[in-house]
Amino acid sequence: MRRAVCPGSFDPVTNGHIDIVSRASNLFDEVVVAIGVNASKNRLFTAEERMEMLRESVAGFDNVTVDGFTGLLTTFCAERGIHAIVKGLRAVSDFDYELQMAQMNASLTDVETVFVPTSPEYSFLASSLVKEVATFGGDVSALVPAHVNERLRARVAERRAQGGS
Ligand code: PNS
Repeated sequence: MRRAVCPGSFDPVTNGHIDIVSRASNLFDEVVVAIGVNASKNRLFTAEERMEMLRESVAGFDNVTVDGFTGLLTTFCAERGIHAIVKGLRAVSDFDYELQMAQMNASLTDVETVFVPTSPEYSFLASSLVKEVATFGGDVSALVPAHVNERLRARVAERRAQGGS
């Protein structure tokens, strides 16, 4: 059984993420989309909300499941018998950091990182930019699934009502 993990923060999941997951699901027998729940970044959505959005987004893929992990990704891989990490590469600017992480992860456990080039239509897409555009009232409906767009609009409205940006 060839198993892979697609790790990320997914705050929130975008169409670019789904493209990478879809292609990983063609390459591997089983794919686990794993949400890193380490509290290192300023999140717009809780881990549970991110998980719900991901589950809805990948419901159409028979061999894809969603899970969360704390701590090291390599520990999660070792516990699950996963030997491949799939990462999307949008541009050369992604490469330096991703290569460093791939080499560090390979040094920690028996795991290979497989880089999948992002489809050109998503090469500019990042959750951080989606959040910024949505926060200032921009239209991100072409960049995220419809259910994620609804949640984004609701969260932005909530934050505004609370006096945030
Ligand atoms: O979507 P992101 O923010 O680029 O995802 C980054 C993530 C969660 C995949 C990465 O930070 C990660 O693997 N975190 C787990 C902690 C870990 O294993 N750190 C060592 C990396 S070499």
